[in-house]
Amino acid sequence: MTSLITETVAARLDLVGATARGQDLYAGAGTDFYDRLVGPDRAEVREVLALARAVPGPVLDLAAGSGRLTVPLVRSGHHVTAVDLSADMLARLRGAVPHGATVECVVADMRDLALDGRYGLVILGATSITVLDREGRARLYAGVRRHLDSTGVFALTVAGRASADRLAVTADREIVVPGSAGDEPYLFAQQIEDDGAVRVVNWVRLADIAPGAEVPVLTSRLHVLSPEILADELVAAGFTAPRISPVRTPVPGEILLLTASPSGDRGGAR
Ligand SMILES: C[S@@+](CC[C@H](N)C(=O)[O-])C[C@H]1O[C@@H](n2cnc3c(N)ncnc32)[C@H](O)[C@@H]1O
Repeated sequence: MTSLITETVAARLDLVGATARGQDLYAGAGTDFYDRLVGPDRAEVREVLALARAVPGPVLDLAAGSGRLTVPLVRSGHHVTAVDLSADMLARLRGAVPHGATVECVVADMRDLALDGRYGLVILGATSITVLDREGRARLYAGVRRHLDSTGVFALTVAGRASADRLAVTADREIVVPGSAGDEPYLFAQQIEDDGAVRVVNWVRLADIAPGAEVPVLTSRLHVLSPEILADELVAAGFTAPRISPVRTPVPGEILLLTASPSGDRGGAR
């Protein structure tokens, strides 16, 4: 199995005789870290709300996580089903939904969608398509097609040109993550593998690195994808060629929004 601990982190721990304890970013203590890391990031919220206003019918939020997109949708009066593989992330989402509002939370793998409803809008935000490999993406597209109503829209986001260089190189740096007792310094390390197709990402709290310690290392493994790759895959899976538009971000062009509808041609969804 490919290691989820980067060489940089392994070497840093080795220096003091510490060992790594890998911890999924989206489970257990990782969920608290994810929320602190993402913090008040509102990227995509405006675009997703505009789409939900324009497209009739209920909304399916895939890889909904702790509800960064779900909660604003629910607050705006939309009926939302939130799907995530992580029960821990969905527990945080439930806790964030305003009192009296309803959201259906489903712990499920988005590669194997089997929900009862049909949706006007299916969202896969936060560039979460990158958690899936090619085969997983093909299963996802087929499932999304099955769950969209006849005029439905599939909206997903991916890193744009402005992020491409940063995501393509092995790198490490210190970052500061807000915590309940103030800011905490972390080592962020990214390792590029499989000829540039995969990024293994680690975060380690610097205060945890101590001689002989077993150090929690938050991990994620992501695929490096371009809007062109996704556009080709969507068309092959029986969607229209996606409309691609920039998401408003502090650095323009960091994130792109792709929107597509079932093309009528069943394509690769057969
Ligand atoms: C980057 S987070 C996005 C969370 C949220 N949409 C946001 O905007 O902050 C990615 C999410 O994908 C979920 N995830 C990973 N693999 C998944 C899968 N196969 N099916 C469903 N969810 C998955 C993780 O548990 C995590 O909550």
